[in-house]
Amino acid sequence: MKNRSLVSITDYNKDEMLQILDLAGEFEKNPRQDLLHGSVVATLFFEPSTRTRLSFESAVNRLGGSVIGFSDSSSSSVSKGETLKDTILTVSNYSDLIVMRHPLEGSAKYASEVSPVPIINAGDGAHQHPTQTLLDMYSIRKTQGRLDNLRICMVGDLKYGRTVHSLLIAMIHFNPVFVFIAPEELKMPDEYKLLLDKNGIEYHEYKDIGDNMDDADIIYMTRVQRERFSDPLEYEKVKNVYILRNAMLGNTKPNVKVLHPLPRVNEINYDVDANPKAYYFEQALNGVFTRMAIISKILGVK
Ligand code: CP
Repeated sequence: MKNRSLVSITDYNKDEMLQILDLAGEFEKNPRQDLLHGSVVATLFFEPSTRTRLSFESAVNRLGGSVIGFSDSSSSSVSKGETLKDTILTVSNYSDLIVMRHPLEGSAKYASEVSPVPIINAGDGAHQHPTQTLLDMYSIRKTQGRLDNLRICMVGDLKYGRTVHSLLIAMIHFNPVFVFIAPEELKMPDEYKLLLDKNGIEYHEYKDIGDNMDDADIIYMTRVQRERFSDPLEYEKVKNVYILRNAMLGNTKPNVKVLHPLPRVNEINYDVDANPKAYYFEQALNGVFTRMAIISKILGVK
């Protein structure tokens, strides 16, 4: 993993993913370790973020490193027309590692091809969000005690939601059963279902929640990704298609956890928050430990 970019979750094999999760567990037990003294990490966010950017920055700070970057590209020379390539080449002069979020699918791959320092993809359009996947896996293993043979129910925007795409690919290593609940307009794209078919992974598709999440070990809720719709009217049609309410968890398994990459809009009612099955804020905390592990591996300090 040392000096390698993390653009797609497929950049890590099963053993490497498990190494990250194990190291994240060590950081959870002992989060203050001065391993990055003198190192600089750049965070370049061309799209809004709360959790990803701040948990990366928290991770670097907890490891004793320094952070530079921008949270809004309008404050950078991108607003004067500077290209992504020139931005990356410039920032790589100032940093040992670049964490980048960008609206264009493939932008992280392109950045990794031109950058002399490793790139971590913090989300590229509707494509992938690999560090979210590793923190999701960490959360799943921590709450279920294992990753193998789980029933994972994904609900909401399965078309544009990059977190479900990355998670699906990663969990193929662990023989899950997937349950996809989405309206016709936001169904899981065929390319991902073909991947499941190729790997002999069972999946089921439904349009309604009904009792379809009652057997799940993980309920992974997602936000309808307004920013990916070209037609605002199409967004209006589906924006509140599923709202998880506390009463709907009554028949679910005792071990089930509700995950959500966040931010939520309306898809999880606030009455779910006090239910012990709700895990999304702990999930966001796990992002710090997981990102500490990813950075440490890439910079070769662990
Ligand atoms: N989960 C996630 O990517 O959240 P942010 O958009 O706040 O970074």
